[in-house]
Order: sequence, then C-alpha cells, then structure tokens
Amino acid sequence: MQGAYMNAWKCERYGPPEVLVQCEMPRPEPREDEILIKVEARPVTVADCRIRGFRVPPSYRLLARIALGFTKPRKAVLGNYFAGTVAATGRKVSRFAVGDRVFGGTDRAFGTYAEYVCLRDSCPMQKIPGDLDFDEAAASPWGAGTALFFLQRAEIQPGMNILINGASGSIGLASVQLAKYFGLHVTGVCSGKNRDLVLSVGADVIIDYNRDNFTEEEDTYDLVLDTVGNHSPGELCRCIRPGGTLLPVIATPAVRREALRHTRAKTIRFLGGDTSVNQKLLDVIAERLERKELRPIIDSRYSFDQMPEAHARVDTGRKTGDVIVLGP
Ligand SMILES: NC(=O)c1ccc[n+]([C@@H]2O[C@H](COP(=O)([O-])OP(=O)(O)OC[C@H]3O[C@@H](n4cnc5c(N)ncnc54)[C@H](OP(=O)(O)O)[C@@H]3O)[C@@H](O)[C@H]2O)c1
Repeated sequence: MQGAYMNAWKCERYGPPEVLVQCEMPRPEPREDEILIKVEARPVTVADCRIRGFRVPPSYRLLARIALGFTKPRKAVLGNYFAGTVAATGRKVSRFAVGDRVFGGTDRAFGTYAEYVCLRDSCPMQKIPGDLDFDEAAASPWGAGTALFFLQRAEIQPGMNILINGASGSIGLASVQLAKYFGLHVTGVCSGKNRDLVLSVGADVIIDYNRDNFTEEEDTYDLVLDTVGNHSPGELCRCIRPGGTLLPVIATPAVRREALRHTRAKTIRFLGGDTSVNQKLLDVIAERLERKELRPIIDSRYSFDQMPEAHARVDTGRKTGDVIVLGP
C-alpha cells in the first residue's frame, strides 16, 4: 500500500457547501496501535455543516477559531462517524481483524470524508451488527449516541412522561425509539408531514408545531428533550413539572445562563452538555441494533461525488434522520 493515493473531500475555507473540494491525497498507513478503515458510508451531520460554514454563536467565535482553525478548519477532511471494512491493522491491534465490518466514531479526529481513515485503536468502534448495511450502520452513532447520552444522564424511570422537541430529526427519531425502549410515555413535536414517521418509531402522542404550541401547557412533562432551540428556557420550563428535567441538546452559553434562573425557581434539573459517541454508548447502540430495538432512519443517500449536495440537504434543516454519503 506504500505510496498509494485515495479520494477525499477537503474543506479549504469556511463557507457554503461549494467550498468543499474533491481531491486525491496519500492513503494513510496504520501505526502499531492504529486501524485503517475503508470507509463505505458516513453521515453528513449538522456539526459537520456548522464547522464548514463556521456557524457558531457570536460569543463563541474566538474560542471556535482557536479550536477549529482561524480561516479554515485545521482538519481539512471532515467527518466524525463512519461504517466500513478494516483494511489493515497495526501490530498491537487485537480488537479487530482485516475484513471486519465496523462502525463508530473518530473521537473528533475527523477524516471520514475520505476513502480510507486511520484511527487509533482506542476510538469508539464496534462490529456492524447482524445483517445491517453500511449506510444503516453509519446512520446510528450521531443520533442514537447523542440521544442515549442525554437519556442516561437524566436517570429516567419507566412510566415517566417525556416531550421530544424536533422528534423528526436524527437526534429526535433516536430519542423517541430509546425513550420508548426505556418505558417512557413519549410526546413527539414535529410538523404534520412527519407525523406518521414519528408515530412509526413509537411516539404515543404527536404535537404538530404548526398547530399547537406545547410551551403553553403547564407542569405537564417529567422531561423535555429539546433538539431545536426555538423556545426560550422560560417557555420550556413552564411545561415541565416541578422536580422534572430539561435536556437541552442544543443550548448556547447564553441560553444556559438564562435557563439556570428558571430551573432554580422551579427545582428543575438542567442537564446540558456536548457529546461525541464513546465506546460505552456505541456498545449499547450495537446491542439495540442487533436486537432490532433501534432502527436507523435514513433521510437520503448520496454518492461520494455528491458531497456538496449532501451538505446542502443538511443545511435545509428539514432532514428526517441521517444524510448518508456512500463510497467511493
Ligand atoms: N449537545 C450535543 O452534544 C449534540 C450532539 C449532537 C447534535 N446536537 C445538536 O442537536 C441538534 C439537532 O440535530 P439533528 O441532527 O437531530 O437535526 P436535524 O436532523 O437536522 O433536524 C431536522 C428536523 O428538525 C425538524 N424541525 C425543524 N424545525 C422544527 C420545529 N420548530 N419544531 C420541531 N421540529 C422542527 C425538521 O422537521 P420539519 O421539516 O418538519 O420542520 C427536521 O425533521 C443540532 O443543532 C445539533 O447541533 C447536539
């Protein structure tokens, strides 16, 4: 494999989907503790698109430039999740063998927008369960990993009443399924066009956000998981019972500060945070997928050459589940 080249998409400056450039670059070689994966499918996530477009809250801009890169992403090949085949392993790797079908995350090392990615053995990775296709496996870690992270933190009990705002997105659809699996009563907030989809993954009640405003309800839910961020913390807290929990999957620092005033006043727990899938979360996801207790939902599939089109689809904010780029 010495001296071989591979196909990749690079982001050489911040901007619209068209800033992505397809190129050839040297194929990486695994070091002794690394695994080389031939990537068959990867999701284009909202996070990828935020990085590409440098869409960050104004108060975060300087920190974000330091963390991501000043005029362009420091890691030019984006992509934090993948499904593929092990192509080579370093001498110290025993977890996986050449030919294994695997899926997982890069632990923010990025690089899955390429034909091959070389990852440390410690990165979250699992064998693809059963007969799942690469696209379905690639559609699992982002939504289900985030949903599981928040639900586990909330110490949920069967019979609790959860409202999921943005139930038709990647995080929302996984949250509905996992909350049902844990025995919760689920109210999903979505538009009328996505009603059947959200019901099909297990929601008990649907609120069409074009017709009803759930934040006008008072003291109704034990938990509110918000993936949209279109309501103020005060509005969200109004519909949570005293002693309940707010799970703001999307929350800027300003929102966090404002939320604290409302949550304190009503003894509501505020469990925010940022996550990227880890091994423990991925192990649970793989088990749920194996037992068909979790269904990956794919919004759309694109060929490798169509990376900018896939980004444009995610940028609409209308996807239902994951946008997957296959190949090359
Ligand atoms: N904290 C963390 O660690 C973490 C991790 C991962 C993701 N996130 C964040 O979570 C958010 C959601 O990600 P995602 O991938 O699930 O998003 P997504 O799939 O792009 O969400 C799109 C969905 O949201 C629905 N939607 C739009 N406006 C809505 C509204 N007003 N009310 C209810 N639903 C609405 C859309 O349905 P319609 O077309 O019908 O409107 C669409 O189905 C992102 O902002 C992401 O950055 C945070």
